[in-house]
Amino acid sequence: MQTITLTVNGTPVTLTVDPRTLLVHVLRDMLALTGTHVGCDTSQCGACTVHVDGEAVKSCAILALQADGATVTTIEGIGTAEHLHAMQAAFREHHGLQCGFCTPGMIMAGLDMVRRHGPVLDERTVRAELEGNICRCTGYHNIVLAIMAGARAMAAIPVAAE
Ligand code: FES
Ligand code: FES
Repeated sequence: MQTITLTVNGTPVTLTVDPRTLLVHVLRDMLALTGTHVGCDTSQCGACTVHVDGEAVKSCAILALQADGATVTTIEGIGTAEHLHAMQAAFREHHGLQCGFCTPGMIMAGLDMVRRHGPVLDERTVRAELEGNICRCTGYHNIVLAIMAGARAMAAIPVAAE
């Protein structure tokens, strides 16, 4: 067992983990942050996407040990039910979710697109960027619209601290 420290959604945590433990299992099983989902066992679906030191990462594809010392942001860290993040609000307004299973990963991926491409995203870019995120409800059309709208809204609305 090894001890790691993380800052998760702004809160410092110290954990003792088996060296084989994946980051996603630390988040879900040890910290009860179950908004980060597991949708595959091949690192293809993107349901587990979180931000590690500000960059989108599939948390099923990284060991917890590799994140030692890092700042991790999950879907629980970007907004609340009362005060949705602009990207979350855009998913609601543009019907970007159906069952919602893929939605946390889609939103975290969308935020990373904004970080790298800026607030004006074209459809082609968003579709290409979503290659690593699978929606089994096949709601891609509205997901793309939601991410473009959320990106624009973020340019006008202060973004939650990350
Ligand atoms: S659970 Fe991580 S990519 Fe599917
Ligand atoms: S909304 Fe159901 S998997 Fe995407």
